Amino acid sequence: MIETKQAVLPAAALQRQREYAEKVRELVCRRYNHPPLAYVHSFGCQQNQSDGEKIKGMLAEMGYGFGDAPETADLVIYNTCAVRENAEDRVFGNVGALKPLKKQRPELLIGLCGCMMQQEQVAEKIKKSYPYVDLVFGTHALYTLPELLYNRLSGEKRQFSLEDSPGSIVEGLPVRRDGTIKANLPIMYGCDNFCTYCIVPYVRGRERSRRPEDVLKEARELVEQGYKEITLLGQNVNSYGKGLDEPMDFSELLRQINDIPGEFIIRFMTSHPKDCTLKLIDTIRDCQKVCNHIHLPVQSGSNRVLQAMNRHYTVEEYLHLIEYAKAQIPGVTFSSDIIVGFPGETYEEFLQTLKLIQQVEYSALYTFIYSPRQGTKAASLPDPVPEGEKSKWLRELLDVESQIRNHQQQALVGQTIRVLADGEGRTGPGWISGRTISNDIVEFTAPTSCIGSFVNVKIERALNWAVFGTLV
Ligand code: SAH
Ligand code: SF4
Ligand code: F3S
Repeated sequence: MIETKQAVLPAAALQRQREYAEKVRELVCRRYNHPPLAYVHSFGCQQNQSDGEKIKGMLAEMGYGFGDAPETADLVIYNTCAVRENAEDRVFGNVGALKPLKKQRPELLIGLCGCMMQQEQVAEKIKKSYPYVDLVFGTHALYTLPELLYNRLSGEKRQFSLEDSPGSIVEGLPVRRDGTIKANLPIMYGCDNFCTYCIVPYVRGRERSRRPEDVLKEARELVEQGYKEITLLGQNVNSYGKGLDEPMDFSELLRQINDIPGEFIIRFMTSHPKDCTLKLIDTIRDCQKVCNHIHLPVQSGSNRVLQAMNRHYTVEEYLHLIEYAKAQIPGVTFSSDIIVGFPGETYEEFLQTLKLIQQVEYSALYTFIYSPRQGTKAASLPDPVPEGEKSKWLRELLDVESQIRNHQQQALVGQTIRVLADGEGRTGPGWISGRTISNDIVEFTAPTSCIGSFVNVKIERALNWAVFGTLV
């Protein structure tokens, strides 16, 4: 049994960082004759994006402005993702591209943080082979950015802060959000599930839930600030509340957020099937503001593979949840993550995944070829199927997905649907883009003044990437 303590960072530790932030502010004010510019880029999932918003919040407090390219920045921070090898390669590529910039402008500061840095071998590689990187900090040291930055700015050697830790909850960090319509709201951090392929539990620490009063306070503030879509974040939101002092679960949290007055919608991710209860499905049905869309990653349609992945559910149990949700929630849609080519997976087992996909009829799939992660259990399993063969399976899967999608998109033609208008459309001038409850893209002609509100759109035609219509 893993002990889950809700370790909230002591106020004094945060206060110390505020003092450092003030010192950085004074220092950069003296050093630059304009507000220095930071370029912050987050790779990976929404949790990382949310951390990136905290990094920007801290930097804004320290007197930084924000630029949109490393070339014009005084400080570049890459907040990295370790989930698959190609995610890591992308980061190394981007960091490599900073080398000539640093050569031209040695005063440019470069910081790397996030999940990749929490892996010892990666931090070592940066230390040895990327001497022009100034700051390296892991996921548990995010809130210490003011101290690290101050030390480096005042002439100390390169800063590394990489201790492993079960993780804590840091309340009260400033946040500079990327959008004005949609907001991420982390409700928990870390993961205890140790799916055998996954690096996340190693780099994000143990599962810990924020106190409901802190989550609700932030949700109320978001609604007051005019946000129209709130996405509750956690690696497994369905186990929210474990280890809290008071009895609390995710369904109850959803109900309380749903009760906040105002016009907004609630999404959440990710929902782990092993902890998805019928009670949760009833709650989604009953709460008007909660989207009728569930991202419920199945990963595989083979019971043997699911067991080898340590997922703790069977295909039958998963389908039972899907059937129950389809019966209870009118118009419910599902999306999923799928891993193709888990070590030892056979073609027959892959075909079982295809069959499951056809049964559920997902509205969206996020598909990945298995990528070995150092230190995980699956990385030491025999993996005889060649990469090229796995790619062939993936293409087969994408064909099936595309057929389902086509069918679903065509079925929307003629319907009038509620859409959150979230920006200008790709179709051309005069077009607005929005998202349906199932997160499908809708493009329609309307004045730009409707961006940020809910509108009804009559769907007239469908392509694979979007449906198109007119404002009702
Ligand atoms: N906590 C979420 C997922 C977080 S990671 C959940 O349990 O669903 C996002 C997705 O990346 C996973 O769902 C999985 O499909 C994929 N993934 C994780 N590790 C992977 C690996 N080593 N190789 C390929 N895909 C992986
Ligand atoms: Fe990774 Fe599994 Fe945790 Fe999701 S639940 S983050 S896949 S270990
Ligand atoms: Fe990547 Fe870390 Fe998210 S590994 S997917 S950024 S939790």
